[in-house]
Amino acid sequence: MNNAQPANRNLILIGFMGTGKTAIGYRVARSLGFRFVDLDHMIEDEQGMKIPEIFERSGESAFRDMERAALAKAAAEAGAVISTGGGLAAQQENLPLLQDSGYVIWLRASAETIFERTSRNANRPLLQTADPMQTIRTLLAQREDLYRRACQFDISTDDLSLDEAAAGVAETARYAMSGGL
Ligand code: S3P
Repeated sequence: MNNAQPANRNLILIGFMGTGKTAIGYRVARSLGFRFVDLDHMIEDEQGMKIPEIFERSGESAFRDMERAALAKAAAEAGAVISTGGGLAAQQENLPLLQDSGYVIWLRASAETIFERTSRNANRPLLQTADPMQTIRTLLAQREDLYRRACQFDISTDDLSLDEAAAGVAETARYAMSGGL
């Protein structure tokens, strides 16, 4: 957990695929009266392509550049809840940008929960493998320490409904962003 003085201009949600960053972020933005930015959607709009097509045509490394640029752009103006893609906070070089961009909350979930939540659609290229459960476990093991270091607060979403998780995130953000945490 990073204890640096939080930059309180925006609220940034990080965490693995399937932890609810988009659905929870949308609800939190409504509750805080902030605008909502989902970086994956922002990139898709800018590129005129869906994420799997971007990965296929341009490759993962180009996508990582796009998401770093999208975060910098989205965070330039205060008052946003920003949902990141699961890989953004897992790139060590993005940590300073994340810290500068706002108050960072890590949404956590177990591998089993993530598998259940992601198995229904094919829009995540990294999980189109022969054994997605094993892929989730491997990626989680690689990423958890980075997520932990990037955040100022974390919430487990395993046993929470979207509304319950959003209420917890909004409450924490309100307190933190008014100087409480
Ligand atoms: C990715 C997560 C996805 C998307 C891309 C790569 C990752 O976003 O950015 O498929 O590396 O974890 P979500 O976390 O919103 O699914």
